Amino acid sequence: MNTQDRPRVLNMHKLLEPGPSVLAEAADVVQFPDGKPLTDDNLAEAAQGCAGILSMLMDPITEKVLATPGLRCVSNVAVGYDNVDVAAATRHGVMVTNTPGILDETTADFAFALMMAVARRVVQADHFVRGTHFKGWAIDMMLGVDVNHATLGLIGIGRIGRAVAKRARGFNMRVLYADTSPLSADEEREMGVTRADMHTLLTQSDFVSVHVPLTENTHHLIGAPELAVMKPTAVLVNTSRGPVIDEGALVDALKNHRIFGAGLDVFEREPQVHPGLIAAHNAVLAPHIASASTRTRSEMCAMAARNMVTALRGGRPANLLNPQALSRRR
Ligand code: DGY
Repeated sequence: MNTQDRPRVLNMHKLLEPGPSVLAEAADVVQFPDGKPLTDDNLAEAAQGCAGILSMLMDPITEKVLATPGLRCVSNVAVGYDNVDVAAATRHGVMVTNTPGILDETTADFAFALMMAVARRVVQADHFVRGTHFKGWAIDMMLGVDVNHATLGLIGIGRIGRAVAKRARGFNMRVLYADTSPLSADEEREMGVTRADMHTLLTQSDFVSVHVPLTENTHHLIGAPELAVMKPTAVLVNTSRGPVIDEGALVDALKNHRIFGAGLDVFEREPQVHPGLIAAHNAVLAPHIASASTRTRSEMCAMAARNMVTALRGGRPANLLNPQALSRRR
């Protein structure tokens, strides 16, 4: 192909190899200016003349962006795609892809890491020792709650929820789940999980871990009423999307010791974090890194780049979210 015929792709952020090499096979890459505010006006301006946008979860891919003449594909380097207006993309004949599957195990590891860290006060303990407060062993020092043999409530039993359930078996946990799409009886038996309504799950669980995508229906799924019925010894973990939990209500619950603690990888207004969470010693906070192992993050970049290349070459990308866009292709 003559280089002049090569499509242009707007790459929003730094990618890990082999993402850039895969992309370079089929496109010329235009880099979004580093540090420029991520507004849809700026994105739409930068996308002019581009057939593709390689986006990440903080990029607002709104109708304004999707209406860019000649745009054919938005490839999001994330499994979550609440930052993309998929309905508008379909209307404009723009394919949208994501990166499902490859981050399940890594994210489940991290959900478990947060659970363990909060339950056994790992971060507090580290600060205690570094602050030279450890003057000798004591029977009541830094008492936590047991993960082993506890009840784990999974809100959402998609791929990541299932990977967490698998880990829970090794800890002899009882696993409840709430999901609008129930598993079959065989799957439940095989995985050792029991379906419960939200109220039962919240009142009976020692650990509640959230694994749902952010949609209109899951916004503030956990708020003051839900926190109020949880056990005072319970731990809440969120590795999905921040707005699934009402952060203000969670701050109140943590401050008043309504629950034992929370492990949060995601926040309502990222990268801002509620000052009440920063002050909460019973919370363990992480900067949205649940999928951040070197292998997983580079596989995500490779998958997103492959999705883009397939779309630009006129094919159907493996992780196409809106096949209806194909019939409206431009
Ligand atoms: C995703 O993929 O949606 C995560 O939040 C980042 O890996």
